Formats: sequence, C-alpha cells, structure tokens
Amino acid sequence: MLLNILAVGDVVGEGGQDILARRLMELREETGAHFVVVNGENASGVGITPAQARRMLDAGADVITLGNHTWNRIQIGDFLDKEPRILRPANYAGRVPGRGMGIYPCKGFRIAVLNLMGRVELNPNLDSPFKGANRLLREEGYDLAVVDFHAEATSEKGAMGWYLDGKVQALWGTHTHVPTADCQILPKGTGFVTDLGMTGPSRSVLGIRPEHSINLFLGGLPRRYEEAEGPCKLNACLFTIDTDKKRCTAVRRADIQE
Ligand SMILES: [Fe+2]
Ligand SMILES: [Fe+2]
Repeated sequence: MLLNILAVGDVVGEGGQDILARRLMELREETGAHFVVVNGENASGVGITPAQARRMLDAGADVITLGNHTWNRIQIGDFLDKEPRILRPANYAGRVPGRGMGIYPCKGFRIAVLNLMGRVELNPNLDSPFKGANRLLREEGYDLAVVDFHAEATSEKGAMGWYLDGKVQALWGTHTHVPTADCQILPKGTGFVTDLGMTGPSRSVLGIRPEHSINLFLGGLPRRYEEAEGPCKLNACLFTIDTDKKRCTAVRRADIQE
C-alpha cells in the first residue's frame, strides 16, 4: 500500500500551537496522511511543557520530536520517560531522560521514528548522529523508518540524507525554521528535504519579533525573545511510501499560509 507520512516543522509559541490545533486535522484529511510527526521544540518559544505536548498530541500529532531546546523547560524530563509518543534527540552524549527512537503501529506496519541532532554550529558535545543512526537502525522490530534530523548546517543534513539513503524511507531536516525547496527522492528510495520550516508567526525572524532579533545583531543587551504577532503559517512536507518496495515514491510540500 501507499502510506502517507506528514512531517510538520518546529511549532513556535502560542501562535504555532494555535494554528496546529485548528488546522492539523484538516491537513491530515486533505493530504490523506496516515501518520503525523510534529517537531515541538519551540512550543514555549524555547522548550516544551507536558501540557503543550499533550495539546499537540490532541491536535493530531502521532509523535512529537524535539531538538536543541529540549531541556529549556526542564519539567518535560519526567514526561519524556512516561510518554512514548515524544522523542528527544537520540545522540545526547550524557545520561538524560527520554528516548530518541520509538516504534509505532500504523495501518498494520511498524514505523520507527528517529530523532537526531547535528553537531555543526549547534552542539559539538553530542555523540555522532551518523554512528548513532547506524546503531539504532540495527535494532529489529520495525518495517519502515523515518528521521527528523535537527541540525543547523545544510551540509550535515544533506550528508545524513545520503548516508541513510535506502536505510530509511524518509528523512527531513528541522531547526532552521526556513523551508527549503529541495524535496527529492534519493537514488535508493529515501524521501528527503533539507528543512521543513516552521509553524508559527509568518511576519517574524524565525518566529520571534523582528525588533528583538535586530537588537541582538546591533549589539544590544540580550533580552527574552518574544514570539511575533500576526498571521501564522504551518510548514510541512508529505512523504508517500510504497510499503512493498520500502521506497518513497513522492515527496512534496504541504504548507498552510493564513
Ligand atoms: Fe532547534
Ligand atoms: Fe526550532
């Protein structure tokens, strides 16, 4: 069968959570998505609380992935241990709560979801996401695998896509909050996009108020970033997977702009 997997970019703040709650079910239906993965690392601006995670699951996310802001709301720690539908990057080097890979039932198939984080310009203390992916994918008990690679550098994301080509059916980048126009199917059948983009205020710098970002670049005192106001967008990509051939057969953007 053809299985549709929808991947939604970093949900930013109240605006991002709101558009997700209002529009995700409709997008699921419109795209025929059977399974939805949402990156939630910016639900609180930085980090996510258990209440925000529950709200995203209620909105129609099957799995929530995270990134470099995982520990900004430390109360998520226990929740990561208790709730199997939320993942944090698998390649944190230390002993931290939660897990970086989960296997979930969908239409008679077992889908492995991996959350990995890049090291380039992001966090050099992490274990290698490449070696980590290799190790995790050796585990048994899944039919299909998809990856959220949370990374800054387009080069690291591209390299990961090609490294895992044929080993996973879909791999998307998150973290930069800017959607890329390179949806493609790699030679061995992995659907790939460098970055999904973000879900939150459109008229912003990566979701935050432009004046706060400008202030930083002008050398102003650091201050708490506030989420921008105004219309929101939902950035997402849809991956269609042929479950017999275990290949991605189509990948396209599935964005909403309000
Ligand atoms: Fe991030
Ligand atoms: Fe983010």
